[in-house]
Amino acid sequence: MLKRKNIIKIAIDSPAAAGAGTQAKLISKHYNLLQLDTGRIYRYVANIKIREPKKFNYQYLKKKISNLKISSLNSKKLLSDKVATIASIIAKDKKIRKLVYAFQLKCAYNPPKKYAGSCLDGRDICSVIMPDADVKLFITANLKTRVLRRYKELKAKNKNISYQDVLKSVKKRDKSDTNRKISPLKKTKDSILLNTSNLSIRRCFLKIKKIIDRKIIT
Ligand code: C5P
Repeated sequence: MLKRKNIIKIAIDSPAAAGAGTQAKLISKHYNLLQLDTGRIYRYVANIKIREPKKFNYQYLKKKISNLKISSLNSKKLLSDKVATIASIIAKDKKIRKLVYAFQLKCAYNPPKKYAGSCLDGRDICSVIMPDADVKLFITANLKTRVLRRYKELKAKNKNISYQDVLKSVKKRDKSDTNRKISPLKKTKDSILLNTSNLSIRRCFLKIKKIIDRKIIT
């Protein structure tokens, strides 16, 4: 695979609703990086399973992923709790992870020339996808904070959802994502831990900016 040289590579791992996506957006904008929320790819595959169950097989997925555009990952359909739950189930499938792998590598190592580099966030970015990233972050927050954040987000779209529903599904995903055999969520030794429970979005961004600047401005 073609790899661009001298690009900035930022890798972020985090459990569900810890604020990694928000920070990834801010970082990417500030440093002009291609941003990829890798969870969206698993959500995209989950959405195919929900909407086109008869067509759901590896061959079909291979075709869909090879034609995938980052813009298709912005669909609002992918944000529901149901899609997230199915995503964490299909994310345990070795063959599906393999199909998604190449797409992530291309974004990470060969972003379009207009970008100075790439910023990926997910569960296995520091460990599997970009082990040689310039900066590796593990963004987390306590369960209550994460559930409350996700509950507010989902409630704005779906009035029927309850705090208990969200608590149950975040807990279930945490358990599945950290305990699975393939590519489990785990903080790598070389990544920097950031607990955002008591940090505003701005404060958290400034902390990350300091870490990145220290690393890339030599
Ligand atoms: O980050 P997000 O909540 O959108 O991810 C949905 C699901 O996709 C996660 O719960 C996890 O099971 C899976 N995922 C993964 N590896 C990644 C990103 C997401 O297994 N790199």
